[in-house]
Amino acid sequence: MAKPSEVVGKAVGKLRAATQAMVDSHGGIFRKLAEEHAAMATMMSRVAGATDARVREELFPVIRRELLAHAHAESREFYDLLKQQPHTHDLAQHSEQEHREIEQLLSQLSSIEVTNDVWADLFQRLKIAVDHHVAEEEGPVFEGAKHVLDSERAKEIEARFVAVKKAEMQRLG
Ligand SMILES: [Fe+2]
Ligand SMILES: [Fe+2]
Repeated sequence: MAKPSEVVGKAVGKLRAATQAMVDSHGGIFRKLAEEHAAMATMMSRVAGATDARVREELFPVIRRELLAHAHAESREFYDLLKQQPHTHDLAQHSEQEHREIEQLLSQLSSIEVTNDVWADLFQRLKIAVDHHVAEEEGPVFEGAKHVLDSERAKEIEARFVAVKKAEMQRLG
């Protein structure tokens, strides 16, 4: 079986059509976030569809670390900016509340054996929560953010996001 790093490396998903158009015109942080969302959706579908507990055992820690580090860097480098703008403030706060709900589900999942039936149900809830969150992020949030960030600024924010995420991944071990 592939090692987690190899599995993650292969997890690239297809971007939604509307997201693709947005990413093509603005690039930077918009592209980075959308690509990570697509890779995450691919990994989560693999776990949700797995009948072999070893797939859950192997991929869940990768998913957990990726989701936590992504959300942390996103909050710090993307949402903090949006919170400063009146027309994106509420959207940003709502997204951050969803980050906390996702973190709670991750911590519940970490405390249950992957072979337990409850784990699969809970993972399904996490998947639904992440799908919903990503749809809002790539929809109204990106729409609002493109008025705040031009493509030059989007590039700068991407570099900061990558650095903060990398440090958080190291911290999470
Ligand atoms: Fe995100
Ligand atoms: Fe997010």
